[in-house]
Amino acid sequence: MHASVVAHPNIALVKYWGKRDSRLNLPAAGSLSLTLGPVATRTSLTFGAEEDSLELNGVAVPAAKRLRVATLLDRVRDLVALEQGPAARAALGGARILSTNDFPTAAGLASSSSGFAALALAATEAAGLHLSLPQLSALAREGSGSAARSLFGGFARMHAGTRADGTDAFAEPLFDEHHWDLRVVIAVTVEGEKEVASTDGMNLTERTSPYYPAWIETVEPDVQSAMTAIAARDFDHLARIAEASALRMHASAIAADPGVLYWRGATVEVIHEVRRLRAGGLPVFFTIDAGPHVKVFTPADEVSAVVRALEATPGVLRTIVTTPAAGAHLVHG
Ligand code: DP6
Repeated sequence: MHASVVAHPNIALVKYWGKRDSRLNLPAAGSLSLTLGPVATRTSLTFGAEEDSLELNGVAVPAAKRLRVATLLDRVRDLVALEQGPAARAALGGARILSTNDFPTAAGLASSSSGFAALALAATEAAGLHLSLPQLSALAREGSGSAARSLFGGFARMHAGTRADGTDAFAEPLFDEHHWDLRVVIAVTVEGEKEVASTDGMNLTERTSPYYPAWIETVEPDVQSAMTAIAARDFDHLARIAEASALRMHASAIAADPGVLYWRGATVEVIHEVRRLRAGGLPVFFTIDAGPHVKVFTPADEVSAVVRALEATPGVLRTIVTTPAAGAHLVHG
């Protein structure tokens, strides 16, 4: 009836931006990511409470702001009824969830990726369910698309799938966190700015951007090329694919009506700085999610030079260094 989990966020190298089904949260195309630590979400969940409750970083989250959590818990209850019968479902009662993110505020790391990966694992474990990894990943996806990938350490690939019920829309591990000693330096450009949530941004892009179909067409070929580059640890090849994927994703969003623009001035300054560093011989590339911060990849032995250069870039407030991390896992507590 109780489980505690640690999960790390992930950053996409080939982006997820668009859904083929909103209700089941099915992605329109695949994606490919790297799970990053030491930043983490820690979640403990106990069934047997009078009603469901969620405390995030010590603050109670009202029911209206945890609809996706409620949906995921209901899905778990349905699975329990299916596996163990209706009496077992009733015996679960409410779930008391305590969750903390140790990410510094406004790090621009998708807390939904680690948050829903942690929740899916904690809830199924506490409920005594025995799900396969694809089933678990598909469950996390219903909470947040990127969460399907955070169940796995290192590099993970998300499948868009084709089935209407979404059973083939899950992530799988590609290479674990020891495959490639990379660093991802987060250049924090704005503290605490409110942005367009990624769900809203991608829905608007899909509905109104003339570039959306063109964007979606690029994704699967990019996933294939990125897998080849990662297998060979070919940094320059991965750099080309990842930057192109990020820029095309943002181009499709900027072309929405009204345009969805996540960048600030400092975001653009960092892009130019990364290009300048690369022209000077430093292996480095950037990617950007649904926010103004820039995530800069580099081999471990180049990280100090990259941190120095980014911290001297106009508009960069600070940097956070992250490393490839393990998948979501159970812990004592
Ligand atoms: C730009 O996973 O947050 O970070 O499924 O609607 O919860 P929902 O979206 P979410 O979107 C992530 C978008 C992205 C790219 C990525 O992580 O692939």
